[in-house]
Amino acid sequence: MDFDPTRLQNVTLEQDGHLAVVTVNRPSKLNALDDTTIAELDCLFAKLDHDAAVGAVIVTGAGEKAFVAGADIGVLAKQGVLDGKANAQRGQALTLRIENLSKPVLAAINGFALGGGLELALACDVRFAAVTAKLGLPETSLGIIPGYGGTQRLPRLVGTGAALQLILTGDPISAEEALRIGLVNGVFEPAELMNQCKAVARRMVSRGPAALALAKQAVRRGVHLSLADGLNLEADLFGIISSTAEMKEGMSAFLEKRKAGWKRE
Ligand code: COA
Repeated sequence: MDFDPTRLQNVTLEQDGHLAVVTVNRPSKLNALDDTTIAELDCLFAKLDHDAAVGAVIVTGAGEKAFVAGADIGVLAKQGVLDGKANAQRGQALTLRIENLSKPVLAAINGFALGGGLELALACDVRFAAVTAKLGLPETSLGIIPGYGGTQRLPRLVGTGAALQLILTGDPISAEEALRIGLVNGVFEPAELMNQCKAVARRMVSRGPAALALAKQAVRRGVHLSLADGLNLEADLFGIISSTAEMKEGMSAFLEKRKAGWKRE
């Protein structure tokens, strides 16, 4: 899809300094992910990945009720084997793109995060939820299974037992319960959610951009490796960061007792 941010139908983009706020904007359908929304998100994240002015991305949902209430059930209801697989692959490609983005991505879960909505949030680096949010993978109640990465990312995040309870019951949980099992990093009053999310995102953006990208890569790639291979990866990435002007600037700034001035390129 050619990218023209003024022509997005179901997604909006706002920039606040070095933060980009991506809002899934189909409130009449509780921001459910139809094909257009997935394609627009994919395109937008690809653009944000290469936009040097963007230091971190926050994803949220329009309206007060939902973050994203899942994949669009109207679309799912019509699918057969081949388009079902293709649908899952499109959702997986989007969530992989987010997970591998070269900058931090935070989810501001302002309401229902169900099915594909929770899977979208699971691909983010950090999740904050409104105290009113409900989170779950209700796919089995619709006679399907999660298809945008939920069966893989949820157990890696919260452990197999908690993940299987959520997946096999299909029951949503409260934000407080999500915090208890480690599914979200923090819970806030709805009116505070975006401010808190932006405050954490700004802390991240105040750090070295290459350091953020490589630290994220070390964690994201490392979790799939043995400890020995992960440590090798970390040492390699440490070598790479040690060759950068960013490292020289970070060290000099500390020794000269001044704030580092990062170059974004
Ligand atoms: N796909 C398509 N449309 C959806 C949707 C989804 N995942 N989730 C909500 N909507 C639509 C509803 O069909 C309704 O549209 P309509 O007004 O044209 O009928 C609108 O959004 C509002 O939803 P509604 O169900 O009336 O709101 P509610 O407050 O009564 O219930 C939910 C909210 C989230 C509990 C309920 O919408 C729901 O269960 N949604 C499906 C969640 C789900 O199973 N997601 C996983 C899909 S794989």
